[in-house]
Amino acid sequence: MKRVLVIHGPNLNMLGIRETEIYGNFTLSEINEKITKTAAELGVAIEIIQSNHEGEIVEAVQSAIGKFAAIVINPAAFTHTSIAIRDAIASSGIPVVEVHISNIYKREEFRHRSLIAGVSAGQITGFGLDSYLLGLKAAAGLISR
Ligand code: DQA
Repeated sequence: MKRVLVIHGPNLNMLGIRETEIYGNFTLSEINEKITKTAAELGVAIEIIQSNHEGEIVEAVQSAIGKFAAIVINPAAFTHTSIAIRDAIASSGIPVVEVHISNIYKREEFRHRSLIAGVSAGQITGFGLDSYLLGLKAAAGLISR
């Protein structure tokens, strides 16, 4: 079975508490349960991690080489700042789907630029929790080719 790594970036451990008008009331564990269920339906194996640390995310991408067929990542605030995560993705050669809970293009201007989009297969933004499920589906499609 092909393996997909799901990476949640900083502050996503605070879902359910943080800015619920923007991010909804669901918690990270609820998202992870749905991701796990969808992965089973799609026939892919998954591993899910969350980190508030840029270097840890860089290392997770590096360690995924040779182990995972695709990555679904919500880089959260690092989307807009991290050349390091971008470079890690670019050098990994692993297809990446970038996801966001909120629609980053409808929000503050500093969120309109993604440093990750240019090294991703595609981006899904604004569908709440479903962004992850759509992202996983996109990743499963990419690796089934
Ligand atoms: C986010 C959008 C980012 O701008 C923000 O910093 C986040 C979450 C989203 O999922 O909507 O932490 O990636």
